[in-house]
Amino acid sequence: MHADVKEILYSEEQIAARVKEMGARLTEQFRPMVERGERIVMLCVLRGAAIFMADLARAVELPIEMDYMAVSSYGNAAKSSGVVSIQKDLSSDIIDKHVIIAEDILDSGLTLKFLIENLEARKAASVSVVTLLRKDVPGQAKIDCLDIGFVCPNEFIVGYGLDYAERYRNLPYIGILKPDIYS
Ligand code: IMP
Ligand code: MG
Repeated sequence: MHADVKEILYSEEQIAARVKEMGARLTEQFRPMVERGERIVMLCVLRGAAIFMADLARAVELPIEMDYMAVSSYGNAAKSSGVVSIQKDLSSDIIDKHVIIAEDILDSGLTLKFLIENLEARKAASVSVVTLLRKDVPGQAKIDCLDIGFVCPNEFIVGYGLDYAERYRNLPYIGILKPDIYS
């Protein structure tokens, strides 16, 4: 275990098993749309969800497109600023496509709230959310998720894509960062 990690919450094996289940569920849910000739695009919220989406996409047994957006609400601080801006937009249009947002962690919910509204305004056929983690925090915006990988404690989480100040993304497990690292 990395010296800056206080506790491992989900091992590499646990994550792999859960992501496979999430992919199977998406396959079931979106198969009718594909059979009707409709298009699915899985949207990665950069950078935290990149590793999650890479695994999730390979667990979905349907033709899906993949696209990427970068939004910022955090900077390097450990608390949400509430201000969301688009740093990198979609590469293809999403009109009439079913968009599945793959997010790393739902914390205040402000990022997802912004994204859902933004994508719906661009006339997507539907916008759904799958998040690897949902942090158990008071006052979280109500976001309807198709699926949630794990509900995690209200601590600073790193690994499997999640960073603190751009570090720890490549840890293969998900863990709690020691508070003295960010305080
Ligand atoms: P929200 O807008 O507060 O829901 O925050 C969402 C974004 O903040 C996520 O996409 C993450 O990139 C980042 N974030 C929130 N909590 C954590 C955490 O515990 N570790 C790492 N990143 C986090
Ligand atoms: Mg982040």
